[in-house]
Amino acid sequence: MCGIFGYIGGRKNSVELTIKGLQMLEYRGYDSWGIATDTEAELKVQKKVGKISEAKLEDFSTEQSQLAIGHTRWATHGGVTDVNAHPHLSGDKSVAVVHNGIIENYQEIREELGRENFISDTDTEVIPHLIAKYRNEGMSFKEAVREASKRLQGRYAIVAINHNEHQLIAARRGSPLIVGVGEHEFFLASDIPAFLEYTQDVNYLDDDEMVVLDETVEFLKIDTGEPVEKRLVNIDWKAEAADKGEYDHFMLKEIMEQKDTIHRAINQDLDQIMHIAQTIKNAKGTFLSGCGTAGKVSMTAEYFFSIIAKRHVNFAPASEFPIYHHFLRPESLLIVVSQSGETADVLEAMSAAKKKGAKVLSIVNVEGSTIARQSDYSLHLKAGPEKAVASTKAATSQLALFLLIASAMRGELQEGRRLLADVASQINDMLNPRFLDYIKEVAQAIKDQENTYIIGKAQNYPMALEAAIKIQEVSYIHAEGFAAGELKHGPIALIEKGTPCISLIANDEVKGDIINNTIELKARGAHIIGISPEKHEVFDEWIKVPDVGVASPLVNVIPVQLLAYYLGVLRGNDPDMPRNLAKSVTVK
Ligand code: F6R
Repeated sequence: MCGIFGYIGGRKNSVELTIKGLQMLEYRGYDSWGIATDTEAELKVQKKVGKISEAKLEDFSTEQSQLAIGHTRWATHGGVTDVNAHPHLSGDKSVAVVHNGIIENYQEIREELGRENFISDTDTEVIPHLIAKYRNEGMSFKEAVREASKRLQGRYAIVAINHNEHQLIAARRGSPLIVGVGEHEFFLASDIPAFLEYTQDVNYLDDDEMVVLDETVEFLKIDTGEPVEKRLVNIDWKAEAADKGEYDHFMLKEIMEQKDTIHRAINQDLDQIMHIAQTIKNAKGTFLSGCGTAGKVSMTAEYFFSIIAKRHVNFAPASEFPIYHHFLRPESLLIVVSQSGETADVLEAMSAAKKKGAKVLSIVNVEGSTIARQSDYSLHLKAGPEKAVASTKAATSQLALFLLIASAMRGELQEGRRLLADVASQINDMLNPRFLDYIKEVAQAIKDQENTYIIGKAQNYPMALEAAIKIQEVSYIHAEGFAAGELKHGPIALIEKGTPCISLIANDEVKGDIINNTIELKARGAHIIGISPEKHEVFDEWIKVPDVGVASPLVNVIPVQLLAYYLGVLRGNDPDMPRNLAKSVTVK
């Protein structure tokens, strides 16, 4: 789970391009970084521990070079040290490689090549060593990379360079890698924003494929070496969309973008939505799956399908899903949700479903991502790049799409669209400067607390779980979400005088119940933050949200996103890059 970047072409400032590209990919990993270029004398590698965003161009030897590779790391094998940072070199220093993924058979390859020849603790280092070995046996650089790739077990996206060869060679199995095609130049990156400033034309590398870039581009199959034809895809994202703009952090920018992103999410081909609604109706067993925030959205969708479409669907977190294979058959449908479209557990869930012949529908934000391409049908969120590690705008777009599909199943697609258009405009009104200031005040009041609890009921229960994820990852305060009615079965013992408790309330049939549960918390001394369309005397703080009926999760989750953001900032954390986390989790 790292970011990789490569450049080859007419520009002579490849190091500068690579630094900028890695900075755009920093959300994928920020333990350490490194760059390699080819100079006349040698392959020059510069790497160190720390964040690439803090690296300055002056710190680099930026000898003119028209080719470079770079990496920003989220450590898996081997601690966070300069030596373990990528790129890694072969023993004779002729080959440099950056890698995203995990090589499962690296111990075996190390043994074979002689353990004493390795200087890092990483799995990656075996790759340049293997390539150099095959080169020394007389293979061309291309054949050596292909042969080495054939030996690797596990998941990888790799980019390799060889001293004195004007070529970038990349291979992929399971981890993302995209070729940006410019005029007489090529880019390689784990994600499109890394090169969006230079080109919007891309080729997606598929699993078990490699690409050789020099003055031309050549795609081939790793196994057989056969050429592969690729379609050039134009990406409809603006470079500014991947920029912080006027905001201090991407997280705040992305929260504020929810004024527009819900509109974009519901602006779908309606025939396709009807087709999907019919597919769910026809399926014999529909399952929903995703991880983290996308999982909590899928869980909310269970309620949408039940309340709106009167249809039973089954949610399981993607990491747990494969065990459900007993219930899958060719007529089943699995709906997976993923912002990045690259999450390893989701891919595993999909493969469990496919093994049983079931169909897969995906809802993703990143077009052309692995999950989108491996699905039978895919819906695109159109939320634009989401760069903060904590997912915000993607989540509300996912909720909107599920609500739209559930409405279509009930035969009320237009009503669903109207409701969501109203939600979007009410969110626009809600996200005003006074609202933000108030939430900052609430955050200020609880920022030194050690524990926070969030309760919700019905479709706001999964949102309570989502609220806990947001607060945990951005503020590092212990946070837990509960089904409001479950409190009295144990968790209420945790409440002390002043413990902040957030109640997610909607104007719906369960309002009376959750208000009662909130009163029970208050009676034990809790400091109550009510997120609700209506004021209630039990609230110590009231965060007013619009009354949007069944769509309440879309408006209730936004104040919690903001609260988590301000808690993080007030506690001195970087909300965009929480410790120990990375944006897309491409390992199991
Ligand atoms: C939390 C968060 C994660 C992701 C999860 C799935 O804020 O961002 O929990 O939701 O890692 O990621 P995607 O949606 O890319 O599959």
